[in-house]
Amino acid sequence: MTELNRLQSAFKQSTYQLSNHGTRNTGVLKKAFEAVADETESDLYGTGQVIEEFQEKMAAFLGKEAAVFFPSGTMAQQIALRIWCDDKGLKKVAYHPLSHLEIHEEDGLKELHGIEAVYLTDPDRVVELKDVEALGQEVSAVLLELPQREIGGQLPSFETLEQISRHCRDEKIKLHLDGARLLEVLPYYEKSAAQICSLFDSVYISLYKGIGGIAGAILAGDEAFTKQSKVWKRRHGGDLISLYPYIVSADYYFGERSGKMGQYLEAAKQVAALFNSCYGISTLPKVPVSNMFHVRFAHPKEEIEPVIVELQQEAGIGITSYVKESGSGSCYFEVHMGDQYEEIPEDLIAEAFKSLDQKMIERFGK
Ligand SMILES: Cc1ncc(COP(=O)(O)O)c(C=O)c1O
Repeated sequence: MTELNRLQSAFKQSTYQLSNHGTRNTGVLKKAFEAVADETESDLYGTGQVIEEFQEKMAAFLGKEAAVFFPSGTMAQQIALRIWCDDKGLKKVAYHPLSHLEIHEEDGLKELHGIEAVYLTDPDRVVELKDVEALGQEVSAVLLELPQREIGGQLPSFETLEQISRHCRDEKIKLHLDGARLLEVLPYYEKSAAQICSLFDSVYISLYKGIGGIAGAILAGDEAFTKQSKVWKRRHGGDLISLYPYIVSADYYFGERSGKMGQYLEAAKQVAALFNSCYGISTLPKVPVSNMFHVRFAHPKEEIEPVIVELQQEAGIGITSYVKESGSGSCYFEVHMGDQYEEIPEDLIAEAFKSLDQKMIERFGK
């Protein structure tokens, strides 16, 4: 067995798991449908009660004129930026160099839409007002990702968001929110979704991350923008004849979990402090501002994996199924707090972190 397989199997076999809401199995879909009547009619190519009511509910929640359900955030965001580029007649946008569009979408924005991207900052920090002010070239849109996932889910201050929003409005640059994890940052900002979204011209939120739905995304904005986004959704083949399995489950888990984001944030702070108390381990950010953070080791992946395998087997708590190289002999994994954390007995958590600390000292202590 390779070390990765060993890690995955130790993770799967552990009694409890630190992150997320549970296994992504078919039971997740079944649960969402338990209280749904058989007579509930399917949506049909983007129309029908089930999709329209959910879109209206999301538009109201985000404080926008209209919202459109998309099968994926990847599709929704490329379309949003395409619309803003067509609007201005300039195929250029600006975003963080570690944006999802830049590193996880096989250059869809460039290959499908011919849109050029300009980087706003260095990869290791969040976007600040000075970065947008210093762009030095015209762009049609600026995309901000809240929280910035690839740097542990860090956030700019709310004041910074307000300043960037004002600047973009003055400069006639559209501001788009990659709010894949918007719900997850509301407790930190102590703002409503609508308050944050009012700073942006268009907004995307994910329906499967923090709330744990099956898949799907919402793209919201004014009527003219969302009307165009529906045309592009059709062009992309995103108007599946029936999207209701995703919509019904998104609606169900939104109801179940959108109110629990404060609890997940507190859990993230607790668990990050536990990791930080272990020898040779640190988290990014040190104090989480959402339900997510990165756990970092100043040692190569090959040396850390066996430590985690051993810990997971002995402690019965799965902390990760993978470890990623992060250059120059260091590695990390991501943690997302969800419903599973509250199921772990407190004494087991305390024991597991004590044991992790000891193992790190034994292997790497001087
Ligand atoms: C920050 C961010 N934006 C966009 C996306 C795209 O979402 P989807 O998987 O629905 O295409 C993701 C997915 O991981 C993400 O993390």
